[in-house]
Order: sequence, then C-alpha cells, then structure tokens
Amino acid sequence: MSSNKMLLKKDLKEKRELVNIEVDRFLPRKDEYPKQIHKAIRHTLFAGGKRLRPYLLINTYLLFDSNIKKTLLIAGAIEMLHSYTLIHDDLPEIDNDDFRRGKKSCHVVFGPDIALLAGDALLVYAFDTINASNLDERIRLQMIKEMSVEMGHSGLIAGQMVDILSEGKKVDTKTLEYIHHNKTARLINLSIRFGCYLADAPEEDIKTLEKFGSKLGLAFQITDDILDIEGDMESMGKSVGKDRKVKKVTYPAIHGLEESRKTAEKLISEAKDILKPYGEKAELLQMLCDFILTRKF
Ligand code: IPE
Ligand code: IPE
Ligand code: MG
Ligand code: MG
Ligand code: MG
Repeated sequence: MSSNKMLLKKDLKEKRELVNIEVDRFLPRKDEYPKQIHKAIRHTLFAGGKRLRPYLLINTYLLFDSNIKKTLLIAGAIEMLHSYTLIHDDLPEIDNDDFRRGKKSCHVVFGPDIALLAGDALLVYAFDTINASNLDERIRLQMIKEMSVEMGHSGLIAGQMVDILSEGKKVDTKTLEYIHHNKTARLINLSIRFGCYLADAPEEDIKTLEKFGSKLGLAFQITDDILDIEGDMESMGKSVGKDRKVKKVTYPAIHGLEESRKTAEKLISEAKDILKPYGEKAELLQMLCDFILTRKF
C-alpha cells in the first residue's frame, strides 16, 4: 500500500471513530422503550460504513479552522441522514436488497414495517441533532433549512423517485445525471457546505467547494454503478449485479464501462484541480478523491 493510501486509511479510521463515539453518545440506548426501533436504528447506523460524508464535512472544515470537536455532532447528523436513505433504499418496495454494510439489511432483520420506521426516525433525528447542538441559532436554522431542501421532494427524494420510475426504461443522459445528482451528489455537497458553515468560511470558498462537491458526488455514484458490475459482494458489503437485473439507469448501462471509467477519472481530476489553491491543507481531501476513483468498496 502506498504511503498516501496508508495515511488516508488511518485518518479515515480515526475520524470515523470520533464520529461514532459522538453519535453513540447522542442516540437513545438500544434498550430504551420501545426497544425494537432503537435496535433497528443502531443496526444499520453501526453496521459499518465508510463515513465518507462525515469525513468530507470534517476535512472541509479543517481547510478553514482547527477545532474538530465542533464538527462531530453535525457530522453524525449527516451520517444519520445517509443511513436513513440506505435503510429505505434497501426496502423490498425500492431496491429490495438483503445486505448492507456487510450485514443483513434492516428490513431483513427487523421486518419492513420496523425498517420503514427506523428510516423515518433517523431522518427526523438528524434534524433534532442539529437543533440540539450548541451552534448559534442562525447557523442551526440555516442548516435545518438546507437539509429540508436537499433531502426533500425536489432533492434526494426526487432522485430516488426518478431512479425508480426509470427502471427498465430508455432514458437520456440528462435524466441519468438528474438521478445521480439528486440521489447522491446533493447529500455529499450538503456535507461539504456544513463543513464550511461550521468554520464560517468565506462565500467565495463555499461556491468553489460546491463545484468540487458536485464533481465528487457524481464520480462517487458512477464508481458505485461500476462496482455493482465489477465489485465483489464481500468487499462491498452489499449485493452486486443488482442494477442490471432490474434494469436500473446507471452510467455503465447508458455509456458502457469504458466511457463511465473515463468520465469518473475526468470528474475526479477536475475535482482535484479545484482543491489546488488550498495546497497542503487539502492533502487528505485530494487523497480521498483518489480513493473514490479506485475504491473496491
Ligand atoms: C452507498 O453509499 C449509497 C450510495 C450513494 C451509492 P456509501 O458507499 O457511502 O455507503 P456506506 O456508508 O459506506 O455504507
Ligand atoms: C443509492 O443508490 C442512493 C441513495 C440515496 C441511497 P444505489 O441504490 O445505487 O445505492 P446502493 O448500491 O444500493 O448502495
Ligand atoms: Mg437505489
Ligand atoms: Mg440500492
Ligand atoms: Mg448502487
């Protein structure tokens, strides 16, 4: 393993643990009444997961400020949002996936009724978490407003909606990009934006990093699509080959594997260029870009 890869791996692990401790502290105990819901929430949230969105939030913040403690609860809220999307995405009525994060999916263990509620609970809990943080009221309100939009009917939900509606259909490139932008890139971008808000970053930087996030977010979903074809279940911690089976609209399905790889490479290279002015401070983010392109999980 190259020294960069080792450094990134170590840093990912350290920050993942910090976020996990904070989330564990904040969430209700698993035996709290009614315990099925709290067990189900924790099942998916703590099944594993790369914690890439919290990592992006924290490392964006570190471009401007250094008090990492300030970021952990908000990073945890972002992971709650992400985990909710995974629980619902796996439901029999949506992608019908039995494995997630190396474990049986929430609905397989607890049943679809409880999984549905666990997803709902996590989504709402993320808002509660932001509200309960000790950030000043102006930032809390701003974050809650933006979460509502990015996760809502014209945001992530819209992406998931068009993803489902497009199964088995022939769609154009614009629709494909609509799906990927909404279902994946917007939450990734929200994480980056929250990192900026926590550090009170200049407006100019927020705009620049928004462009970075959109490219990274799209590249992330393209590599997820590629890994559904080329990856193996054990490393991925989720089933593979599922997109082709249900004729999902994915990058490789529309553009082919070779072209998809090239697009992901181009997006990652452009994303890295955007980070250049941040120099050494953005080293770990640069490494994360390489990881997203070459990842096996
Ligand atoms: C999976 O996201 C869902 C997509 C948006 C492709 P991740 O690959 O970040 O999943 P975890 O959090 O590591 O399980
Ligand atoms: C997921 O896209 C996007 C979400 C909002 C969860 P996928 O359906 O491709 O994600 P996986 O492959 O199940 O993780
Ligand atoms: Mg899906
Ligand atoms: Mg899925
Ligand atoms: Mg996928």
